[in-house]
Amino acid sequence: MNQRILGSEQYQKLAIETLEELDWCLDQLETLQTRHSVSEMASNKFKRMLNRELTQLSETSRSGNQVSEFIANTFLEKQQDVEIMSGPLKDKDKKKRPMSQIVAVKKPVLSPSLAPTQIPRFGVTTLHEGLLATEFEDINRWGLDIFKIAEYSGNRPLTVVMYSIFQERELLKNFKIPADTFVTFMMTLEDHYHTDVAYHNNIHAADVVQSTHVLLSTPALEAVFTDLEIMAALFSSAIHDVDHPGVSNQFLINTNSELALMYNDASVLENHHLAVGFKLLQEDNCDIFQSLSKKQGQSLRKMVIDMVLATDMSKHMNFLADLKTMVETKKVTSLGVLLLDNYSDRIQVLQNMVHCADLSNPTKPLDIYRQWTDRIMMEFFTQGDRERDKGMEISPMCDKHNASVEKTQVGFIDYIVHPLWETWADLVHPDAQDILDTLEDNREWYQSMIQRSPSPTLEDRDLDGGPGPLEFQFELTLEEEEEEEEEEGGNVDSDLEIDSKGKVSETDCCICLADQR
Ligand code: CMP
Ligand code: MG
Ligand code: ZN
Repeated sequence: MNQRILGSEQYQKLAIETLEELDWCLDQLETLQTRHSVSEMASNKFKRMLNRELTQLSETSRSGNQVSEFIANTFLEKQQDVEIMSGPLKDKDKKKRPMSQIVAVKKPVLSPSLAPTQIPRFGVTTLHEGLLATEFEDINRWGLDIFKIAEYSGNRPLTVVMYSIFQERELLKNFKIPADTFVTFMMTLEDHYHTDVAYHNNIHAADVVQSTHVLLSTPALEAVFTDLEIMAALFSSAIHDVDHPGVSNQFLINTNSELALMYNDASVLENHHLAVGFKLLQEDNCDIFQSLSKKQGQSLRKMVIDMVLATDMSKHMNFLADLKTMVETKKVTSLGVLLLDNYSDRIQVLQNMVHCADLSNPTKPLDIYRQWTDRIMMEFFTQGDRERDKGMEISPMCDKHNASVEKTQVGFIDYIVHPLWETWADLVHPDAQDILDTLEDNREWYQSMIQRSPSPTLEDRDLDGGPGPLEFQFELTLEEEEEEEEEEGGNVDSDLEIDSKGKVSETDCCICLADQR
């Protein structure tokens, strides 16, 4: 009897001890945040670091605050406000089109009966074929002057660049795309970019196509991608901003637009660009993918969707974090090219490639970069004017009476463009060194313009104590600085653990531990 009581007491003690141990294990698991993927934790960490930097920047001056708000609003996912921002729909907004309809599809521009023999050298008729040919000598170079291509092609840069690249890469031949169908589709697509939008127009699309074309040819990726993947990347670049209205996703959401309604506020523009791009393939003599097998067609469509959705800048930190993780664990073949042996790795490189091409203005020769800056500011100011007219709060960098162009560019480079390109350069080392050098030179030029600026805005003089240099420093690494750790809670930190398959381990990685803060 005694023994049985003792046994049950021991049993109870053991049960309590076991429960306590389980509790401890659960605590540990919770602090390790195993419900998050490594990639999520890495991007959360980068977002926190960027937020910290931006908070500091916003405290330097009013223009610093503007730059900080612009970067946070564009490149970080917006935290959900509890307050419901939008009022009831106005009567005129209530006129409904069927939700299934993709708006803005216009008539095709070319007669479907255009014979292949009639196709001019660059796909379109132009009075300046000789000048165009000279510019096209740079088609494989980073410094191509896309503005001259636009001028000499009679504002058909997207069609001529795509036509030339598809021919050079023999994609028309390999995928049996009739030349007249290709040109008809490209002109139709080009016509669905808005000529009255200063930045997000057909020239920007052509620029992203040509930049992607150069990046695809980087030695570290030689013979890595299939023709189908190459075609998907070029097609994605061509459609990635089609029918862009010249205002941001946030503007569309805040104004209860049809598009925001259609896509439930999620990557509104990017979903629309994809829908329009694919819809246009159904126009007369526009189906450039008619000869693909069903499987090829499905595979291409998936890749294009993945790539264009990755151009939503609010996802920037997620892609950058994954790219950094890939660089840390990168595998190279005996030929010195990257080893990408599964869909996830292949699409990740392609997504980042198009993303880099989309964020490549500051890496181009200065005279070209400056034209892009003028255009993006013009577009931002037009949005600002519309916000002012509607009595809305004016978005950061969109107020023409109160914007600091040079500081925006320096901030844009330091916090977004340089961290991205530096990581890309690590991935394809040493291929992108020239690009990185130009980026750094351009950054210095804009920085020198801040210092030299004859009329700093009043509030800066008041708050900064003069137009002194505005030096930002922002470095993203997967390892957290130890000092910071000690300051903020003394977490034990360690490097990323890489297992035998080259994958990052979740248990010991600094990202997980850093996430406790
Ligand atoms: P989008 O082309 O859709 O994707 C990249 C975004 O980066 C672009 O829209 C702008 O919001 C932003 N961007 C690109 N270039 C610049 C620039 N030179 N200055 C400021 N923002 C830019
Ligand atoms: Mg876009
Ligand atoms: Zn773009």
